[in-house]
Amino acid sequence: MSFPPGFFIGAATAGHQIEGNNVASDCWALENVPDTVFAERSGDGVDFYHRWPEDVEAAAGLGLQALRFSVEWSRVEPEPGRFALAELDHYRRIAATCRDLGMQSVVTFNHWTTPLWFAASGGWTHPEAINRFERYVDRVTRYLGSEIDWAVTLNEPNVATVAAVGGGGLGGSAVGSLADALAHATRRHPSPDGTFTPMMLWDGDQLGIYTAAHRRATEVIKSHVPVPVGWSLACVDYQAVPGHEGRAAQVRDQALTRWLEVSREDDFVGVQNYTRRLVGPDGVQKPKPGVAVDDLNWEVYPHSLANAARHAAAVSGRPVVITEHGVCTQDDTLRLEHTRNQLRNLATAIADGVDVRGYLHWTLLDEFEWFSAYDVTFGLVEVDRSTFERKPRPSATWLGDLAAGRASL
Ligand code: BGC
Repeated sequence: MSFPPGFFIGAATAGHQIEGNNVASDCWALENVPDTVFAERSGDGVDFYHRWPEDVEAAAGLGLQALRFSVEWSRVEPEPGRFALAELDHYRRIAATCRDLGMQSVVTFNHWTTPLWFAASGGWTHPEAINRFERYVDRVTRYLGSEIDWAVTLNEPNVATVAAVGGGGLGGSAVGSLADALAHATRRHPSPDGTFTPMMLWDGDQLGIYTAAHRRATEVIKSHVPVPVGWSLACVDYQAVPGHEGRAAQVRDQALTRWLEVSREDDFVGVQNYTRRLVGPDGVQKPKPGVAVDDLNWEVYPHSLANAARHAAAVSGRPVVITEHGVCTQDDTLRLEHTRNQLRNLATAIADGVDVRGYLHWTLLDEFEWFSAYDVTFGLVEVDRSTFERKPRPSATWLGDLAAGRASL
């Protein structure tokens, strides 16, 4: 059992979750309101902002073939229209280093966080939002586009609809609770005009606004560089409890299928999957007692990744890149075994003809897991937050060996 030639295996990250001191962002503001519901502030993160050379080198040293990272909009454009050359250069050096070390880079232009000035004036609801995003994407692409291999415009723009269809913990992310956290923090945040809209859209025309932003960004990126462009979606594997297929189809359509249809015009679709969700008469269910779950109470189910890839490929008709998959646990044996099982099933899907180009494990390092902060982890590499010392877990070594052909599935 193996992957086809050219298939790449790597790890995914996101700026705000590891860099530290992302002080001009909306999320930083949310974390720092009185009575914040974030378990802890992101603070220093795991200091990826300074330690990235060590981390990128270690990823390549493990054998990984690709690294996904995000550009933090609030760092490169801390004030409207003022771009920080040193920050653009920072991200260009990361991409260039990946290339020098033989790793592909997958660059996310927006992984949820936006500049505080953007959020404070209405975020994605502002009439100028798409022009603002375009201006930022244009500047970033002109500066570092020639160094990157894959571009992801938006991370999980469907995540709020995944939250809306329910089920508690989501299987795409912890945003069910994050939504509450944002609403709470937003109420606490002093905003002179009352329009503070941090991070993501929770209502209104999410599909329309994000599709427009994605299309505009795609056009701009392609006008500068010939890289494949797509967006990444929270692809929960929704399954019907027997007899409730209609309800499950409704949920799947709302939270996922109509978003995957947007990808029909793209070069690829980024699939992010963590679990499955059963849909019964009352909608999306939480895992029943006794079912194996991870530390976020998401079911540990070995077919969800392959099912998500099959569905995404069938709806979009485009190549798939697994831009995230992982398991929230301190138990690294579980991480390794579960990842192996999911990858075996993914390899079967590929053998059946599903066009999957690569796999990026979430996530390279112990990270700031949004409102759960540092209490939980998805990391392949353990980080001691008092010394910033890094220690690859056995799962990291195994994944690197698999990528490098030293281990088999
Ligand atoms: C997000 C990540 C998050 C992960 C686990 C994904 O939905 O893109 O930022 O850490 O899920 O919750």
